Amino acid sequence: MQMKRMMVPAMLLLGSFAMAQPKTNPAQARMNTFVQALMQKMTLEEKIGQLNLPSIGFDVTGPVVSQGVEEKIKKGLVGGVFNTFTPVAVRKLQEMAVTQTRLKIPLLFGYDVIHGHRTIFPIPLGLSASWDTAMIRLTARAAAEEASADGLNWTFSPMVDIARDPRWGRVSEGAGEDPFLGSQIAKAMVKGYQGDDLKKDNTILACVKHFALYGASEAGRDYNTTDMSRIRMYNEYFPPYKAAIDAGVATVMSSFNEVDGVPASANKWLMTDVLRKQWGFKGFVVTDYTAINEMIAHGIGDGKEVARRAIKAPVEMDMVGELFIQQLPGLVKEGKVSVAEIDNACRLILEAKYKLGLFEDPYKYVSEERNRREIMNDQKKMLAKEAAIKSMVLLKNENNVLPLSAEKKIAFIGPLVKNQRDLIGNWSGAGDYKQAVSVWQALERKITAAPFYYAKGCNLVDDEALKNKLNPHGAMLEADVQSPEALIREAVETANKSDVVVAFLGEPFGMSGEAASRSDIGLLPNQQRLLKALKETGKPIVLVLMNGRPLTLSWEDENMSAILETWYGGTMAGPAIVDVLYGEANPSGKLSMTFPRNVGQIPLYYNHKNTGRPLDENQKYTSKYLDVSNEPLYPFGHGLSYTSFSYGDIMLSGKTLGVTGKLTATVTVTNTGKYKGEETVQLYVRDLVGTVTRPVKELKGFSKVTLAPGESKKVTFTITPDDLKFYNGDLQLVHEPGEYHVFIGGSSATSNKATFTLR
Ligand code: NOJ
Repeated sequence: MQMKRMMVPAMLLLGSFAMAQPKTNPAQARMNTFVQALMQKMTLEEKIGQLNLPSIGFDVTGPVVSQGVEEKIKKGLVGGVFNTFTPVAVRKLQEMAVTQTRLKIPLLFGYDVIHGHRTIFPIPLGLSASWDTAMIRLTARAAAEEASADGLNWTFSPMVDIARDPRWGRVSEGAGEDPFLGSQIAKAMVKGYQGDDLKKDNTILACVKHFALYGASEAGRDYNTTDMSRIRMYNEYFPPYKAAIDAGVATVMSSFNEVDGVPASANKWLMTDVLRKQWGFKGFVVTDYTAINEMIAHGIGDGKEVARRAIKAPVEMDMVGELFIQQLPGLVKEGKVSVAEIDNACRLILEAKYKLGLFEDPYKYVSEERNRREIMNDQKKMLAKEAAIKSMVLLKNENNVLPLSAEKKIAFIGPLVKNQRDLIGNWSGAGDYKQAVSVWQALERKITAAPFYYAKGCNLVDDEALKNKLNPHGAMLEADVQSPEALIREAVETANKSDVVVAFLGEPFGMSGEAASRSDIGLLPNQQRLLKALKETGKPIVLVLMNGRPLTLSWEDENMSAILETWYGGTMAGPAIVDVLYGEANPSGKLSMTFPRNVGQIPLYYNHKNTGRPLDENQKYTSKYLDVSNEPLYPFGHGLSYTSFSYGDIMLSGKTLGVTGKLTATVTVTNTGKYKGEETVQLYVRDLVGTVTRPVKELKGFSKVTLAPGESKKVTFTITPDDLKFYNGDLQLVHEPGEYHVFIGGSSATSNKATFTLR
C-alpha cells in the first residue's frame, strides 16, 4: 500500500500560538469594568487572599492544613471554601465574607459533587457504560440543582482522565478508556452542571480534572509518576479535557502527577501553552488538594520555590495548601513574582464569581425553600433508577438464565444483598447511604409466585489487614457472628432449596476511588470460596457484581451461568437491579473499559497499535504471551441484552471521500430475540496507513436504537474528513489520504467492515 501524502495542517501549528483576539461583547465589557474597579481597591494581600481555597467543615481527603479559616475569611484572605455545604453553614461563612471584610467579596463554595449530590447516581464508570450522554447530562443537571440548593456553587467534576489500567482505583471516577466516548461524556457533564447561564440559581461552576494524564500513573498505583510521548497525549489522553474546555467549562483542576518531568501544578507547557494558548481556556485553574506543597516531595524545590513555579505556570487557586498566602507576598517583594502575575490570577477568580452573579446576590444558593424542594425529590429518584438500569452491563447470560421467572424459587446470596452502604460507592460525600434502597428492600416489595430465600454466605471482606485499611475511611466492614464456614454451609443449604442462585458479590466501596489501587483485581478469596461452594450445588448461578473497576473474572466467566455488572448503582440501585433481574427492564449497558483476563495483560485496551509483529498464534515471533491470549475477557463496548441483535452489511454512500465531502455508513440492525431492547450501535474506523502508526480501531460514533422483537431499523452515521483527523509526528492535527476501514457493530470486537478511500 502507498504511503499517504500529508495534508495541510487543519488546526494548529505548534510554535505559532498567536490567537485572534475576540471582540469584547457588552456583557464582558461590563464584567471587565467591574472587576478592574474592584481590583484597584484591593491590597496585594487581599488579591493573594482570593487565590486561597481552604477546607472547612465536613470531611477531607488529606491532612487538614487550613487553620483558623474563619479568621482568615474576615481578613479577606480566602477566595473560596471547600467542604462546606447546607444553607445554614454556607450563609454563616458568606455573611462573614460580605459583611465583615473590607471589600465584601463573596466566597466560592466548592465540593466534590461527583455522581450526584444528595441523590446518588451510579459511579461515573457505571454512568459511562450507559453511553447515554443525554441521560448523563440530566444526572449532572440534577446534581447541580441539589448542590446549588445546598449552598454550593462549584463542583470538582467531571473527572475525565483516560484510564487503561484497572488497578488504579480512580477508574471508578471517570468514563473509561476511550477518548471519543470520554469527550462526549465530558461535554455532557459540563453542560449539565453549568447549564446555559451561570447566573441562574441552579447552575454551578464545573471543574474538569485532573489536568493532565492522572489516569496514566505507572503500574496503576495512585499518585505515581506518569510518562508518555506528546503524540500519545494529544491523540489519546488530551481529547476529553479539550472537549470540556470547548464546552465552556469554567475551571480546571491540575493533577498531582508530573508531566514530562514537571509536576502538573508547575508545568508551564501544560498550563500556558496547551491550556490557554492552544485551547483558549479563559477560566481559572485550581490545584488538586495540597498539590503545590507536594511539589516539595516531588523534588523541585522548597515551599517558596514551588509556590513561585505554581503561580508562574500559572495555576490560580491553591487548594488547602496555603503556600500561596504564605509565600507570594514575600516573592513579590523580592521581585521573583510580579504584581501582574498576581493580578491575573485574582482577576480570573473574581470573574468566575462575577459570572455566577455572586456580587449581585451572594446568598443566591442558600434558600431553605429551594433546598426542601430540590433535594431527593421524586423526579431525581426516578432519574437515579433509570441511570442505574442503563448503567448495568450484562456480561454473560448462558441459556438465558436471566431474566428470572417469578415462578421459580430463587436464593439471593451474598453480603451485598442487604447492604446499603456500598450502593452509593465512593465520592458520594453528601449522600446518605441510609437513603439508598437495598436489593433486599426492593425484593420485599416484589410479588413473586414462588418463594425467595436469603443467606449472607460470607463477609464482604475477611482479610483483617484489608479491613484495617478500609474501616477508618467509613467502610463499616464487620465480621459476622457466624464463622466463615458456617456462613458458607448456610448458603449452600439455601441454594439447595432453590431453582436458581443469585450471588451478590464485589468490592466494598473503599476498594476503588482515590488511594485505592489494587495489584490483584479479582474477587476477594473469601468471596471466591463461597462461589466455588455454590457451584458444587449444581444450581445455575447468576453473579451480580458491585464494584468500581474492571475485575479479572476468568473463573467466574467459565463457571457462572450469568454475570451482571451493576457497579455501585446509587440511591436507587436496589429497585433497578430487581427490575433488571426479573426482566421488567432489559439491560443495555456497554463497557467503557476493557475487562482483562488477568493482571499481566494490563494495560489492555481496544484501540491499540498493530505492532510490526501482530499476533499470529502459529508463529513464535509475534506479539503475544505464552500463558494467556491477547484477547480481553470482555472487550470495550461489550454488553448483552435479554434479546439479541443482528447487524446487516455496511452500506457506504460512496467508495471515496473528498476533503470537503462526507460519506454515510448505514447498517440495518434487527432485534432477533423475544424482548424489546436497546442497542448501542458503535462505529469504529481504522486508518490503514499513516505518516505515524495508527490504532487498529478507533471509536468515531455511536447511536442508540430501541427495537421491538422482530423489528429492524436502519442506523446511519455520517463520516467527514474531520472525523479522521489525528495529531501527526509534528503534533499537527491532520487527516491523511488513503484507505480506511469502517466497522459497525455491537462492540469493539465487531468484524462487520467496509472500506473507503479519503482523497
Ligand atoms: C483530591 C482529589 O484528587 C480530587 O479529585 C478532589 O477533587 C480533591 N481531592 C478535593 O476533594
